[in-house]
Amino acid sequence: MINLKGRLQKVASMVDHCKKPADIGTDHAYLPIYLVQSGICPMAIATDIKKGPLRKAEKNIIRYHMQDKIELRLGDGLIPIKDDGCDVLIIAGMGGVLIRDIIEKSIDTAKKAKHIVMQPMYAEEALREFLLRYGFKIIEESLAKHEGKIYPVIKGAYDGIVREEDIFHLYIGRRLFEQRDPLLKEFLRKRIKRQDRVVQGMSKSLRMKEAHIKENSLLIDMKKAYDEITW
Ligand SMILES: C[S@@+](CC[C@H](N)C(=O)[O-])C[C@H]1O[C@@H](n2cnc3c(N)ncnc32)[C@H](O)[C@@H]1O
Repeated sequence: MINLKGRLQKVASMVDHCKKPADIGTDHAYLPIYLVQSGICPMAIATDIKKGPLRKAEKNIIRYHMQDKIELRLGDGLIPIKDDGCDVLIIAGMGGVLIRDIIEKSIDTAKKAKHIVMQPMYAEEALREFLLRYGFKIIEESLAKHEGKIYPVIKGAYDGIVREEDIFHLYIGRRLFEQRDPLLKEFLRKRIKRQDRVVQGMSKSLRMKEAHIKENSLLIDMKKAYDEITW
């Protein structure tokens, strides 16, 4: 049985039982191998835009005797699974803007999925903003720690309802507070440090004044939220 750690384990834990998930940008294929081995799904599709990662995926699929259960596809984003009826989509280990672009490019395929599990490495605010504006609900969020860094994992699904969100909760997901995520305080501490550097690095010229006020106000909100976390 394959052993997933930290980030990938958290992503896997947010995938519900399903018929045919697709792991987009699979690289090593650890995730679909785990999902099939643990009985979360009977089969899976694993895609990548590059041949190198797919060769790596193939080796692992053979190593774990999954050749008749995991199908490999070469191609960009959701395009290779357009007509496959995949009920769950997983897009992990990429930037939030790339995940957003992948979904936007094949929006009809994304809308049909029962849910999508996304794990942005950065720029998660761009992804949250897009999901809410395009009528996707954020069902659940969780934080995963990997090699000292903390990453959000976002589970969403299309329900057609456009939602507005304030800037602070685009950066630090609302569900993380509602679900009292155990890593939230540590995550916020790291984000405050980073945001502090952003604010300090900004010139206070008249031209930049508005941007400075915006970034500083985000920093104040982060500090306030940090102080209010009791768990
Ligand atoms: C950092 S790896 C992440 C691998 C795995 N999903 C994980 O979370 O550990 C990112 C993978 O996404 C692939 N990728 C990048 N852009 C892609 C796209 N538009 N469509 C499909 N795969 C893509 C890359 O080739 C690479 O193998």
